[in-house]
Amino acid sequence: MSRILHLSDPHFGTVDDRLVQPCLDLAHRMQPDLCVISGDLTQRARADQFRAARDFMARLPGPVLVVPGNHDMPLENLPLRLLAPFVGYRRAFGRNTQPQVHLPDAVVQGVNTANPLVWKSGRLRSSSVAQLRQTFAAAPKERWRVVVMHHAPVPAADGTPADIADPAETLAALADAGADVVLSGHTHMPHTGFAETAAGVLFLQVGTALSTRLKTGANDLALVTLGTGQITVESWICASGEEGFSAAPSVTYTRPGLEWQKLPNP
Ligand SMILES: [Fe+2]
Repeated sequence: MSRILHLSDPHFGTVDDRLVQPCLDLAHRMQPDLCVISGDLTQRARADQFRAARDFMARLPGPVLVVPGNHDMPLENLPLRLLAPFVGYRRAFGRNTQPQVHLPDAVVQGVNTANPLVWKSGRLRSSSVAQLRQTFAAAPKERWRVVVMHHAPVPAADGTPADIADPAETLAALADAGADVVLSGHTHMPHTGFAETAAGVLFLQVGTALSTRLKTGANDLALVTLGTGQITVESWICASGEEGFSAAPSVTYTRPGLEWQKLPNP
């Protein structure tokens, strides 16, 4: 069993400072095997924002895997965005924007979906698909294959269409590469589920862990437990004005065959 703490979109520069310590305390109480931050570490890709994000990351327990989001590229400085979009990100988090982590029963591959040409929407590059194929093909069969990417190729919780180029093709590429579960952010709305066309891939989205840029009136994060044949997602919510995170009802998915099924709530 592996436990992954999934955070996203902290947007340092717009962080609600009151939430930082409660978030870190919760993370330390959970003692996950891995912490994941699925992009938009910063609000405007500024050096001080990257420094704050890196300092936060250093205070999380255990290994931490991060990938860039669109906000981690410069917005207004077009030449810099086109010529060196990840220079600030790399200074803070290292050269590799597609890191991987091996857990005892999962292999986790980060993917950089930030697209300097359009800034906001994402895209899954063919080189990233090749990386996923290689990583997952080399992993022992019984291990969970987990992708971390900022933009998901499935609609948001409120039905907003996926904000990524060629969602159907992206979905098919992830399924074909062997992904079991995909952790994403970007929408600032928590959501779990799978697409009819690729029901073997479970998509888990969280909202913003720390930012005041709320879409649902709350900050949230999730503890994802990769068990034997099933995945449980425990959401933790902090409603606007509150000063700590509280557990929401958890949801469990099982995959008896090729397709995921949601178990009825106990
Ligand atoms: Fe984003």
